Amino acid sequence: MSHLFETYARSDIELVDGHDAYVVDALGNEYLDFGAGIGVMNLGYHPSSVQAAVEKQIKGIWHTSNLYKSTLQERVAGLLTQGTDRLVFFANSGAEANEAALKLARRYTGKHKIMNFAQAFHGRTYGALSLTPVTAYQAGYGVDQDVVTVPFNQQAAIDQLDDTCAAVILEVVQGEGGIHVADRSWLQRLVNKAQHLGVLVIVDEVQSGMGRTGSLYAYEQFDIVPDIVTVAKALANGLPVGAMIGQAKLGTAFQPGSHGTTFGGNPVVMASAYAVLQSLTPEFLADVQQKGLAIMHDLVQGSQNLQQVKAVRGLGLMIGIELTTDVQPVLMKLRERGILALAAQGNTLRLLPVLTMDEQEMHAGVMAILTTIGEA
Ligand SMILES: Cc1ncc(COP(=O)(O)O)c(C=O)c1O
Repeated sequence: MSHLFETYARSDIELVDGHDAYVVDALGNEYLDFGAGIGVMNLGYHPSSVQAAVEKQIKGIWHTSNLYKSTLQERVAGLLTQGTDRLVFFANSGAEANEAALKLARRYTGKHKIMNFAQAFHGRTYGALSLTPVTAYQAGYGVDQDVVTVPFNQQAAIDQLDDTCAAVILEVVQGEGGIHVADRSWLQRLVNKAQHLGVLVIVDEVQSGMGRTGSLYAYEQFDIVPDIVTVAKALANGLPVGAMIGQAKLGTAFQPGSHGTTFGGNPVVMASAYAVLQSLTPEFLADVQQKGLAIMHDLVQGSQNLQQVKAVRGLGLMIGIELTTDVQPVLMKLRERGILALAAQGNTLRLLPVLTMDEQEMHAGVMAILTTIGEA
């Protein structure tokens, strides 16, 4: 008998190790990883610089409370803010980063209403869940009602925005919702209107950030400047972390005691995050962009005659293949072929490959994915 709550539909394979872009199960089978543990293991398994940084820190101090100075947190915050006038709060997950953003936005503006988008996903804690308009996830929990949900990529959203809102929160590439990329002009008009009205713009980069789309933050490719950005997942390549990055002017809303966490910004996690951020060089990001273009080309060409493919969408290495058939059997078949991938809403096969995957392996993996879809 399992002693775990059944909150996950778990596969019966157990992953026990990994190397580069491969994971290994308890029976010794290897899988090419197009899921990266849901967009976490961006640098693959055992990346040497990250592993060395973590091992070094493990030999030093594992934990200090946030009541003490932290040079490591300052260093990571320096890399996250990239020389701009912004401040960082460290948490332990994406949902917690969004909780911090929600609290900051409400406290700074003195308003409560938040605008969010259909198909959004912002996490499972109460505040974050309230911003995630999926009935199945919210049912029975009595979530925060001061949230107005509007359609993504549609003018109606801009029309509905007014100065009664504290903030608007969005993913520039919706992940769990099915890989929907924001329309550039729509997003710019939305952000302009919000900022003109004094409504804060929160961009949730939990899935799309940390180089996933070919830039440190995906929003950089849309020429917008958010008031608040949240990240997590890949920031420490597998160690639990979240961060809320806000414009420095918002700092007046938080004083000692306004918000906090025991583990957020833990030294071991920060050592990992610092090594991860140092790896995201312009050359690394250019490589992700190039691989993203190559994989999209393969997918668009290869799916032309596949009636099982409704649409291919994505940015960088955050890719969705919307199917006309059930996505779950396709995932199962892929596993049998030695490939791990993910699903997203709307029978979308979601690909979040390890970013360091070799280009030939990636191409071969994509061909196997197309073959598998064709057999569905
Ligand atoms: C865009 C986005 N925001 C927030 C979250 C929640 O992050 P976590 O599961 O670390 O709480 C996720 C997780 O999938 C996400 O994709």
